[in-house]
Amino acid sequence: MKRIIIGISGASGFAYGIKALTLLKPLAIETHLVISKAAKTTCCHEVSQLSIEQITSLADNVYPIDDIGAAIASGSFKTMGMLIAPCSMHTLAAIAHSLSDNLLTRAADVVLKERRRLVLMIRETPLHLGHIKNMEAVTLMGGIVFPPVPALYQPLQTIDDMITHSVARALDLFDIDIPSIPRWGE
Ligand SMILES: Cc1cc2nc3c(=O)[nH]c(=O)nc-3n(C[C@H](O)[C@H](O)[C@H](O)COP(=O)(O)O)c2cc1C
Repeated sequence: MKRIIIGISGASGFAYGIKALTLLKPLAIETHLVISKAAKTTCCHEVSQLSIEQITSLADNVYPIDDIGAAIASGSFKTMGMLIAPCSMHTLAAIAHSLSDNLLTRAADVVLKERRRLVLMIRETPLHLGHIKNMEAVTLMGGIVFPPVPALYQPLQTIDDMITHSVARALDLFDIDIPSIPRWGE
């Protein structure tokens, strides 16, 4: 069984994390979820239709943010890598500086040190030089900075379509194919 880690941090866009869990649910890929404290706040502001219990039930395994001894904190626990959706500037900075101060940033650090795939759906605008330097640092360490910028050339009609398209493109980076997404030229 393949495994992927999903991190949800406290940037706007909790729906990206829910979408990742929803798209992965029917696939033969085990999901390991960690949600930051700030993300629980953004969830309250942004998600009205689902409770946090309903969201976590989409994942196969859920870890408390302070559980620094969890399986995903160790490189010996093999995964395809980690998608952080959305990724706050705080979490980006913590990863760029290997702080590993909670389970989410520790899991990301482990993914980088094991040379596995790390994809950060960062969300902030505008950006200052500190943000950009942190993105450079993570990129040099092998991570992929993937801001969820909508592809306006695609026939995407709703916000949900745009979220689905962005998350499916992020999952492409793990070689995970979501058959229903529109692809240019197909
Ligand atoms: C409603 C709301 C929206 C936020 N949006 C963003 C955002 O888009 N990007 C960002 O970097 N931080 C955003 N923040 C601030 C982060 O939640 C804050 O920096 C927090 O410390 C991030 O912690 P974490 O990285 O551990 O989740 C937002 C906070 C709230 C309450």
